Amino acid sequence: MSDKKIHDDNKPNIILDDERDLLMDHEYDGIQELDNPMPPWWLYGFYFTIALSVVYLLYYDILGIGPDQHEEYQREVAAAAERYGTTDEPESIVNFADLEVLMDAESLLAGRQIYESPRNLCTTCHGQNAQGLVGPDLTNNLWKHGCDLESIMISIKDGFPQRGMPAYGSGQRLDDLQLQQLSSYIISLRGTNPAGAKAPDMSRSVECEI
Ligand code: HEC
Repeated sequence: MSDKKIHDDNKPNIILDDERDLLMDHEYDGIQELDNPMPPWWLYGFYFTIALSVVYLLYYDILGIGPDQHEEYQREVAAAAERYGTTDEPESIVNFADLEVLMDAESLLAGRQIYESPRNLCTTCHGQNAQGLVGPDLTNNLWKHGCDLESIMISIKDGFPQRGMPAYGSGQRLDDLQLQQLSSYIISLRGTNPAGAKAPDMSRSVECEI
């Protein structure tokens, strides 16, 4: 340890003449304090925040001109729904059970285009040839949620959010005809044996009966 003391108790602090009035009357361990005025830039900044808080209070709370967080949230949800489409429209009135698999070339092409389009992201999780990636292989005979047209339409419409598949793959709604075309296309892939097919999860899959 150094024997040099920072403050010598026997030596009084040197107080300059023009500091005498500013000197505050407390002292801690020989340290004294001057009551200097705040710098003006700081003080004006402080007054500005007070004035601003009054304006803020009037604008958002008292007069209610500005939107509160609930209104802002509603606005953003509405803007997003407009931009990306929404899935909470009224339920479809078509009964999926009444629909038939569409096997004509035109419908299958339409279904394939939806499957491969970046809009609904099917290929991202199920692979270009539906061989399975993150999601299961859709070309084999083993299904978790049913292999008939209606079940597949419901699988796609609702998705499996708990297991990583959003509704319609990306949340972007498809109309009933598109859903029917897409599901028909998937049914048409059955037995195609694509390269690199993902192994089925035998614990949850059942053999397709159709
Ligand atoms: C973000 C990943 C992801 C996307 C995108 C996605 N899926 Fe899936 N999909 C999954 C997962 C994971 C499962 C398995 C759910 C489970 O384990 O129950 C699944 C299951 C399915 C099933 C049910 C399979 C069965 O065995 O019953 C079908 C049908 C299906 N997806 C079709 C589609 C279609 C069509 C699209 C595009 C519109 C799509 N998926 C987009 C991840 C995805």
